[in-house]
Amino acid sequence: MNRLQGKHILITGASQGLGRELALTYAREGASGLALVARNNEALDEVRARVRELAPETRVLTINADLTRQAQIERVIATTLSEFGGRLDVLVNNASALGPTPMPFLLDYPLEDFRAVLDTNLVAPFLLIKKALPAMIETGGSIINVTSDAGATGYPGWGAYGISKFGLEGMSETWAAELADAGVRVNLVDPGEMNTKMHRDAEPDEDPTQWADPTSVTEVFIYLASDESRAVNGKRFQAQEENWGQDEAAKAASNDE
Ligand SMILES: NC(=O)c1ccc[n+]([C@@H]2O[C@H](COP(=O)([O-])OP(=O)(O)OC[C@H]3O[C@@H](n4cnc5c(N)ncnc54)[C@H](OP(=O)(O)O)[C@@H]3O)[C@@H](O)[C@H]2O)c1
Repeated sequence: MNRLQGKHILITGASQGLGRELALTYAREGASGLALVARNNEALDEVRARVRELAPETRVLTINADLTRQAQIERVIATTLSEFGGRLDVLVNNASALGPTPMPFLLDYPLEDFRAVLDTNLVAPFLLIKKALPAMIETGGSIINVTSDAGATGYPGWGAYGISKFGLEGMSETWAAELADAGVRVNLVDPGEMNTKMHRDAEPDEDPTQWADPTSVTEVFIYLASDESRAVNGKRFQAQEENWGQDEAAKAASNDE
């Protein structure tokens, strides 16, 4: 409890699924301020009400925005900073679009959908980081980009979604390298398969109860948002693996030497 006291945190895609769960988890950990971003106002209001029940001390801001729109991204950061007295410690780039369902192969992928998925999953995190960075450098912040297994392996049918996550992974490594001396850390988390609307839409014939509940993947997100991870930069975590996949990553790196 209270590992996030004093932290002001912005979470995109906080209206449902993992983003909603992170809002509740961060509130339980004593976050001072939460800025919750998504398009569905009603759902955001419900999350805010739940946060207030759990943590009356946490300041909750809901921001209705479509992250495919540059002007709306700029408004998200401006509103957050003005409401939080210029302070932002943690940015969680969680919002994602899956694209059309059933998921078409690339040959049949409509260009407009391809662009919309990349705008949401890759261009929006780029712009959010760019705009938030000056404030985050002040406090030595943490940026957490939410990726997927589909961002490390090219699965048939996962099209623009997978490609956007490949891009997000490359972009995160680049930001992390460029910010190495700036005091802001940039890390990736693959939450693993979860029982959320996105996954149910992607694989409607599967039994969703085989996938993890989002409540079970939050620990690594607390760690990365807290000061415990202050020295951790440019890493990729797998929320459902033992030690969040860090032993495996170390083994792979030593095999490469
Ligand atoms: N579920 C899985 O098994 C799984 C596996 C690996 C990785 N992930 C990753 O985990 C993260 C969370 O996924 P989830 O399963 O929780 O998905 P989800 O239930 O579909 O939630 C996605 C969130 O993104 C928001 N969003 C989508 N497009 C937006 C836009 N244009 N502007 C603003 N907000 C937008 C949605 O809010 P509104 O609709 O209200 O705007 C919603 O809150 C994603 O990054 C996903 O890629 C999920």
